[in-house]
Amino acid sequence: MGDGRSRAAGPPMFRYRRLAAELERRIRAGDFRPGERLPSIRRLHRGTGLSISTVHRALLELEACGLVESHPRSGYRVQPAAWPPLEPPAIRRSDPAPQPIQLAPAVHSVIAAISDPAFVPLGNTGMDPAHVPAKAFGRLLRGMNRAEWRALLGYVAPEGLGELRRQIALLDVGVPGRFAAEEIVVTSGCTEAIALALQAVARPGDTIAVESPTNFAVLQLLEELGLLAAEVAVDPREGVDLEDLARCLEAHPVRACFLMPHFQNPTGALVPEEKKRRLMDLLARRGVPVIVDDISAPLYVTGKRPLPLSAFDREGLGMYCASFSKTIAPGLRIGWVAARGEFRERIRRLKAATSICTSSLDQALVARFLGSGAYDRHLVRLRATLSRQLLQTADLIRRHFPEGSRLALPQGGTLLWIELPEEIDGLELYRRAHARRIAVIPGVVCANAPRFRNFLLLSCAGPVDARAARAIAALGEIARGLGRRRRRPR
Ligand SMILES: Cc1ncc(COP(=O)(O)O)c(C=O)c1O
Repeated sequence: MGDGRSRAAGPPMFRYRRLAAELERRIRAGDFRPGERLPSIRRLHRGTGLSISTVHRALLELEACGLVESHPRSGYRVQPAAWPPLEPPAIRRSDPAPQPIQLAPAVHSVIAAISDPAFVPLGNTGMDPAHVPAKAFGRLLRGMNRAEWRALLGYVAPEGLGELRRQIALLDVGVPGRFAAEEIVVTSGCTEAIALALQAVARPGDTIAVESPTNFAVLQLLEELGLLAAEVAVDPREGVDLEDLARCLEAHPVRACFLMPHFQNPTGALVPEEKKRRLMDLLARRGVPVIVDDISAPLYVTGKRPLPLSAFDREGLGMYCASFSKTIAPGLRIGWVAARGEFRERIRRLKAATSICTSSLDQALVARFLGSGAYDRHLVRLRATLSRQLLQTADLIRRHFPEGSRLALPQGGTLLWIELPEEIDGLELYRRAHARRIAVIPGVVCANAPRFRNFLLLSCAGPVDARAARAIAALGEIARGLGRRRRRPR
């Protein structure tokens, strides 16, 4: 929502955002309760001194984000959605002893279901096709002449097209810890960025400290690279547990950490700024490099853009990986890694040796999209859409899932990490959902050690239409059935 740029004497464009942000803060603080009426447009106009149209615009923005709904003749009411929130899942301590990867057997069927269009897509962690800026890309493609096509169908330098790297660097203008175009290497998606960063610092048999739970695709990657995982606990609200991490670094020969500080996959956790500073201090004291998956950072739906971890990285220990898979389109396969000095050079050499370069045409298309200014406008709409989808999905979970289910409503991203009552087996729930052509992610695939058995990961990347709502209700029904079955005396 608000982008933090609002100023008291700013132009009207920013004043409506300031009012929307203030109303949002009060809704989230519980000053306005679910179902309650907000002050009328006239009262807000008189109370704030803002014009009627500015007030109206602020309310429209809140409505677009799913925080309020307009009722004919009775004004705007707070959505009876996800407030008061459910209890967040409890933090689960882990055993950080390094272990070879043992993927949960379900992982391959999970991946197949996620990409099968016959399934209700509640496990799709990338961007939903409904939100892809297809029209703008169509225009860009049609606008290219033959000479441009010819120029774009050859190889480019391994680090990527200069104009794309420049545009990526411009995304963070004014942000502390930003990277220059020369420090960026373009990759085929965030996955390749992470793979190159891992290979830049680790050899087979080395240990990587990872959050637990984590993105199951990264566990797959560690397995393929012959790396061991040391699992560190995650607080579902505030991210990696620093005490656990410190203990892990003390006890084990950790070659690098892999972390997701912004809307972590799967918990949705956001590491607060002060904790980012302590995290980087800890890593700097021990000289441990960190590979950061920052793919979801632009998808904040409350407050302002979180400060990147690089803003606290004085030693240049970080390799920052991201892509446009969650903000433009996953099929473009355009990602990047930003790193300093030796790390950047090693990554560039690995990229050259393993794939020469990423598709020149796709790089050029994305560079033009960014350069046109359309990306910023697209992101504003996307954040509002995701905010609404997060709230709608959380509300359906609250209404349909068994009592005792836990969920921390994230401040961004598209993932909802649900802790089911202890007696409910998330893997069995997954199997039954699969039989009904509903794709979800069972918690067990998100860790190396067999943990998170009573957890489930749902994505709300797509529109919460009638089909999705029915599927979430069906998941709740299956879960309740499994709970009853377990409680029945033998
Ligand atoms: C946290 C996270 N990182 C990386 C990826 C994969 O990104 P890419 O498609 O750019 O390789 C995903 C998938 O959506 C993800 O959820």
